[in-house]
Amino acid sequence: MPRARVGVLISGTGSNMAALLYASRADDCPYEIVLVASNVPSAPGLALAAAEGVPVFARDHKGLKRAEFDALIDAELARHGAEFVALAGYMRLLSPAFVAKWQGRCLNIHPSLLPAHKGLDVHEAVLAAGDAVTGATVHLVTPELDDGPILGQTRVAVLPGDTAASLAVRVHYAEHQLYPRVLARLVAERTGPEVLLARVRALALALPAAEEKLSHGMNGFFVTGGKFFGYFLSNHHGDGITALLVKTSEVEEQAQLIDQDPELYYRPAYFGPSGWIGIRLDMGDVDWDNVEAWLARSWQVSAPKRLARILADF
Ligand code: GAR
Repeated sequence: MPRARVGVLISGTGSNMAALLYASRADDCPYEIVLVASNVPSAPGLALAAAEGVPVFARDHKGLKRAEFDALIDAELARHGAEFVALAGYMRLLSPAFVAKWQGRCLNIHPSLLPAHKGLDVHEAVLAAGDAVTGATVHLVTPELDDGPILGQTRVAVLPGDTAASLAVRVHYAEHQLYPRVLARLVAERTGPEVLLARVRALALALPAAEEKLSHGMNGFFVTGGKFFGYFLSNHHGDGITALLVKTSEVEEQAQLIDQDPELYYRPAYFGPSGWIGIRLDMGDVDWDNVEAWLARSWQVSAPKRLARILADF
């Protein structure tokens, strides 16, 4: 299974970015860092990322409207095929459009036990409040600053005589452990078979008179009173493949597609020369427009004529 592609945004030292990057070097890490971008061209973390062979992008945000600047960052993320964004000391509010686009796939780390002590000068605030415990939080990014569903937290004891600087050091230790673990869990969840099935199901059941039932260990989608038009399978017969099966109009087309793109299309076992074709969903970035188009086509050839006309007229 290819790794999820993550872009990291930083404004400063980038020690959390480094923790994410070095964690990604483990063989079993489910993500890779494909870009480190910054609104501060002199951010020390950029030099570290570049030295480690990670593509970097830097642009001073001054003189640009927030939405314009975020559009530049977004274009860079797209150019590097990022599927997730990790904010790691990125000290800039994001525009609503950026947040909306990356919702559920954009995380932030904050040096407190949220919801306590949002914003800046967190360690000073912890000491001033006399808290006995502080910590680090990773959360999904929403339009509100340092808000959004919490994905993980680590507690850090406040010691007698602690200063903001001494506390910051220990909270950093905690952050460096927490962030890679939470990011790995999130990408594994978001790119795993359950998530892929949920997306396929949403597209399949959006077609007229579509229903679902289990068939030979696969999630089958069929037209009421008609035939199956799609099967979702994951590790079927232990082959390790996650894929969608749809029906081509002819056996020749099946052969042609496999010839054109043997990474994406394959001839499913146990289906004989029936025109069914497998579309791999476990090869990284899934082209969901292609999946949607295939489901509609397959529905068309499987639906009773009376129903098929509905979609044709659509
Ligand atoms: C980290 O402590 C991070 O939690 C904090 O900035 C620091 C960046 O350090 N982020 C925030 O306060 C966001 N609200 P780093 O550049 O060494 O990773």
